[in-house]
Amino acid sequence: MGAQQLSGRLITLEGGEGAGKSTQAKLLAEALTRNGIETIATREPGGAPEAELIRDLLLKGAPERWDGVSEALLMIAARRAHLRHTIEPALARGAWVVCDRFADSTVAYQGYGAGVPVEALSALHRLIAGELKPDLTLLLDLPVEEGLARAQSRHGAETRFEQKDIHFHKRVRRGFLEIAKQEPRRCVVIDASRSIDDIHRAVRLVLGERLNVKLRTA
Ligand code: TMP
Repeated sequence: MGAQQLSGRLITLEGGEGAGKSTQAKLLAEALTRNGIETIATREPGGAPEAELIRDLLLKGAPERWDGVSEALLMIAARRAHLRHTIEPALARGAWVVCDRFADSTVAYQGYGAGVPVEALSALHRLIAGELKPDLTLLLDLPVEEGLARAQSRHGAETRFEQKDIHFHKRVRRGFLEIAKQEPRRCVVIDASRSIDDIHRAVRLVLGERLNVKLRTA
C-alpha cells in the first residue's frame, strides 16, 4: 500500500538523541488539530500495544544485549504492528499521522551506526510496508555532543542507544544527513540547536511550503 493511495498524510520527525523530536511532534500535532485536521501523534519503536512491548526489549538492558541485525529485526517487527494497527487505519480514514521516528532511524542507527547493509534494511521495509513512504520527513539536526548532553539532562536512566559511544552517534548523524541529501523531495533538514519556539516556527513554515497547509499559531 502506498501513502499516495491513502487519503491522510504521514509526517515523520527524525534525528539523533536529544534533538527535541518528541516536543516538536507534539507541537505539530496540536497545530494541525487546531487547524481542523484530524491528527494522531505516535512514535517508534512503539505506537501500538504490541510494538510498545518490543520497545522495552530494545531500549532496556546492556548495549550489547542485541547486535545490529537483531535490533533491525525487532524494529521491523515493531513497525509492522505499528503500521497495521495504528498508522494504516489512521491514513485510510483520512487522518494525518505525525510520527516521532520511522524507517530512516533504522537506516541511520542499524545501517550507518551498527553496519547492517542498507539494501537488506530496504528489502525488509518493502516486505512490511510495500511502497509506503512518509509524505514529509523533518530531520532535526544538531551536533552529537549537544544532543547527548540534552538527552542525559532530561532523564535519569539512559537507554541502550544513549550508552553507545560517540563514534556510533556521529555515524548515525552522518546517516541521517546522507538520507536527506539522497531524498530532498521528502526530507527537510532543520537546525535543532535553536529554541523550541524557533524550531516550531521553522516546522510550520516547511508544512506550508511542502504540504500547502498554513498553520495558525496557538
Ligand atoms: P527515542 O525515545 O529517543 O526516540 O528512543 C528510541 C531509540 O531507539 C533511539 O535511541 C533510537 C533508537 N531507534 C533505532 O535504533 N532504530 C529505529 O528504527 C528506531 C525507530 C529507533
